Amino acid sequence: MRSKITVVGAGNVGATLALRLAERNYADIVLVDVVEGLAEGKALDMLEAGPIVGSDSLVTGATVNGSAGWEPTAGSDIVVITSGLPRKPGMSRDDLVVTNSKIVAGVAKNVAAHAPDGMLIVVSNPLDAMAQLAMAVTGFPRQRVIGMAGVLDTARFRTFIAQEIGASVVDVAAYVLGGHGDTMVPLTRLSTVAGVPVADIIPKDRLAGIVDRARNGGAEIVNLLKTGSAFYAPSAAVAQMVDAILLDTWQVLPCAAYLDGEYGIHGLFSGVPCRLGKEGLVEVIDVELSTDERAALHRSAHAVQELLEVIDAKHDEIGASIPTLASVATIG
Ligand code: LAC
Repeated sequence: MRSKITVVGAGNVGATLALRLAERNYADIVLVDVVEGLAEGKALDMLEAGPIVGSDSLVTGATVNGSAGWEPTAGSDIVVITSGLPRKPGMSRDDLVVTNSKIVAGVAKNVAAHAPDGMLIVVSNPLDAMAQLAMAVTGFPRQRVIGMAGVLDTARFRTFIAQEIGASVVDVAAYVLGGHGDTMVPLTRLSTVAGVPVADIIPKDRLAGIVDRARNGGAEIVNLLKTGSAFYAPSAAVAQMVDAILLDTWQVLPCAAYLDGEYGIHGLFSGVPCRLGKEGLVEVIDVELSTDERAALHRSAHAVQELLEVIDAKHDEIGASIPTLASVATIG
């Protein structure tokens, strides 16, 4: 039987992702949205591209409303949550926390009901907090709840490094740890071009500029677009994670994972190198960090914990009957 992937949200990220996955021809795709007809229309359009691009992926759309309309997603192997509001210029990802918590909590409840054995990939912002909320609402184990951020953040970092020195992007390997926010931690020490450390090739001040641009890569695009945020690179990043899971490649990709002691962090999502396979998160790779790097990662984790405190304080408004999130986390 073909695998089934549900993409929740037929906006820019969701629709572009559905198209990327459909063109891979390895799974059937269900696209859902709350806007009547939007997912059905885009799905049908993608389906009709099948004969041209040579894909037999069955792409279908469905309109969901609260807990109604989710039947087509039943038994999904992977569910990707892209729903939520994007940032506007001047907003940080954190400004979205209450609005998107309501949306993600509602979606997660329906995912747990209809795809109880599925793998969840969370894309909604603020990413790490939304992944943690989705895990709490679904009750899924950490192997089956993974957040997309690091692949995107490292892709930005790799792009700018490659441009700086005229290298091929595929020769640039980079590490970005921490939350998908202003405190993310690009690790220049472990970033290389064809095996050579970037610090040996790029002057310090130029490298600092690249780190800064990668860290603000999402905002750079929000400021250009004015309405909405990035979606080509984010959808490519999710598709790479889906490849690793569906094809059971065991590729190590930077993702947001629920840490269980790795890096001195317990009970909290943060961006770390993750081995992905058909069971989802196969293992978190616990890289030895310098004192400064570890401190930066922990600062980033504290920023995620503060967001969880906001969610805890607004439980009634968010409407999710979930255990408190922030107090179980320990850092350092
Ligand atoms: C970005 C958004 C999707 O980084 O978080 O572009």
